[in-house]
Amino acid sequence: MNCITVNNLNFSYPGDVKVFHNLNLSIGNGDRAGITGANGTGKSSLFLLLMGLLKLASGSISLWGKPVKTVEDFRKARIKTGFLFQDPDDQLFLPTVEEDIAFALLNRGASREEAGIKVDRLCETFHIEHLKKRVPFHLSWGQKRLVSLAGVLVTEPELLLLDEPTAGVDDEVIDTIINYLEGFTGTMLVSSHDKAFLDHICTSRYHLTNNSLEKY
Ligand SMILES: Nc1ncnc2c1ncn2[C@@H]1O[C@H](COP(=O)(O)OP(=O)(O)OP(=O)(O)O)[C@@H](O)[C@H]1O
Ligand SMILES: [Mg+2]
Repeated sequence: MNCITVNNLNFSYPGDVKVFHNLNLSIGNGDRAGITGANGTGKSSLFLLLMGLLKLASGSISLWGKPVKTVEDFRKARIKTGFLFQDPDDQLFLPTVEEDIAFALLNRGASREEAGIKVDRLCETFHIEHLKKRVPFHLSWGQKRLVSLAGVLVTEPELLLLDEPTAGVDDEVIDTIINYLEGFTGTMLVSSHDKAFLDHICTSRYHLTNNSLEKY
């Protein structure tokens, strides 16, 4: 079964900034797909469309074989999806790192105790235990990246949509992210300008140019 199916998607930003014209994409369940593409070709817009955070002009999106159209359809699909924004400042908003990482889990009804255990485990994995009581807003870029990634992974999503997870982070952090993602068994769609990173974690690759997504 397909996890993500995009058919003839058309999308423009207001002001007639055309981004996609009849875009098609098909990602199978369990696929680990990477997306490359020049700045401004629409990688982030594609993620936002898949999450229902932007509204397509025409065409269709299906997730796990079901068309997603309404706010409620996207809400249900988001429960099984972990989306990492390109900019961690779009993601982090709570007063402490530990609250931010726990947020999605608590929101899904987990107890404080369960959330605490999972947050601790991820903080250990990403070597960010010392940041737990810190204010996310005051962290360095790479630290924010790890905290936002932990907040996405904490719900153990079936589908991961990661928009440039390694941009602006050091080699050691990249290795930590690679190690974690190598063990992830769900479906992944990851955008990056770092081809070596994608080589490590992906089994298929797509290149986005103006108006088309080529598998290579
Ligand atoms: N909120 C917005 N309003 C208008 N135009 C936008 C908006 N966000 C993005 N765009 C435009 O849409 C196009 C696609 O942008 P997008 O951010 O999706 O590209 P990208 O492939 O993610 O780029 P990058 O590699 O720099 O992250 C660009 O031409 C961009 O200028
Ligand atoms: Mg982008």
